[in-house]
Amino acid sequence: MTDVRLIHAQWSSRTAFILAASGSAIGLGNIWKFPYLTGENGGGAFVLIYLLCVIGLGVPIMMAETMLGRRGRQSPINTMRTLADEAGASHLWRYAGWLGVLAGFLILSYYSVIAGWSMIYILKMGSGIFAHTDAEAVARVFSSLKGEPEIQFIWHTVFMVATMSIVSLGVSAGLEKGTRYLMPVLFAMLILLVLYAMTSDGFGQGIAFMFKPDFGRLSGESVLTAMGQAFFSLGLGMGAIMVYGSYLPAHVSIARASLFVAAADTLVALLAGMAIFPIVFANHLEPSMGAGLIFQTLPLAFGQMPGGTLFGMIFFVLIFFAAITSSIALIEPAVAWLAENRGLARQAASFWCGLGCWLLGLGTVYSFNDWAGYTWLGKNFFELIDFLTSDLMLPLGGLAIALFAGWVMTSEVSEAELEMGPGPGYRCWRFLIRYVAPLGVMTIFLKALGAF
Ligand code: PFF
Repeated sequence: MTDVRLIHAQWSSRTAFILAASGSAIGLGNIWKFPYLTGENGGGAFVLIYLLCVIGLGVPIMMAETMLGRRGRQSPINTMRTLADEAGASHLWRYAGWLGVLAGFLILSYYSVIAGWSMIYILKMGSGIFAHTDAEAVARVFSSLKGEPEIQFIWHTVFMVATMSIVSLGVSAGLEKGTRYLMPVLFAMLILLVLYAMTSDGFGQGIAFMFKPDFGRLSGESVLTAMGQAFFSLGLGMGAIMVYGSYLPAHVSIARASLFVAAADTLVALLAGMAIFPIVFANHLEPSMGAGLIFQTLPLAFGQMPGGTLFGMIFFVLIFFAAITSSIALIEPAVAWLAENRGLARQAASFWCGLGCWLLGLGTVYSFNDWAGYTWLGKNFFELIDFLTSDLMLPLGGLAIALFAGWVMTSEVSEAELEMGPGPGYRCWRFLIRYVAPLGVMTIFLKALGAF
């Protein structure tokens, strides 16, 4: 049998890995989800818990996940099995890989629908309908979009076809390009939006909402949501970073790459919030309006700005690119597994995964209209899939990765693979991954269950 580790593709450079990992991390999670979750969960206290989760759980788990990927050099399921063999541990660990493959698949199904919305907004912005408009008119445009499954169906389909076409092209051709130029432009546009927000009446109130913690407004479920969002936004706990790590050449500092990606991701989320909440308050909108938040605030800001039609269009194009680089990472574990284990060609594997996600995504399309009345535990189809994946599966996947890297893998192996030497940096990581990350995830689960 050929050793897959030898024929496995590699990134062309360290920069390429960082770009791809940032591409996976920075997406709808930062620009669409972070602001609306912050709004729904009362602001500052949520943001604080989120930041603590990124630092205490996110960064060490990102390092662990990349490290496992580079050592295993296969799809997450096979990587977990190989590394469990190497450590003399049970093959059951491969279920951690399975969990991730499934989570990515489920997430992409709704991610694609929301990415479809942002594509619709490219056209809406471009048509100039938002120029000098008011909050009510903007809200009407959004609610009519939500009410029309046909148009969402079309753009969900377009987005899935685009994603799967890129995925089927393979690692270097498909994944590395795009991110390099577009991410810096996205960053610059966000800064521009924040500068604009500074001139609005709501800036002080927006900033206070985001950064002044009021713990009275924080429920156990909000803490769980903050942790889930940290995993979601960093793209952790489901093997995506593991797959990217598996393409990473030896002798690249995993610690530095992880810190960089986490910092960039967090900055983008905070900037998005700082751009959006001032607009919310200046226009007397509700921060807790939910999934439509950016679609009802950004058009308002752009509508009032000189050159806003063009800027607005460009901004939604950038959101689309941020979404597509994340989508690729969401489905890559499933495609890599089908190609490795079922002997399918990459194109065929991409096709079947894409078709499955597309079908499942129809559930999300209809949860905003015809099926809005069907709920379970008070959640519609979209909310249920989101809860199941972000709040349960990703943190559980992260917990498994932390336990494996901290307790199953020997310190000789992790020290050699991280290449940090035995100094304080490595000891700090090992402490975080052995104690802080597992206990943190478990405590938050228990708190959400109302155990204390
Ligand atoms: N991190 C992406 C975002 O914030 O939009 C979503 C995501 C990508 C989650 C890749 C998980 C993943 F593996």
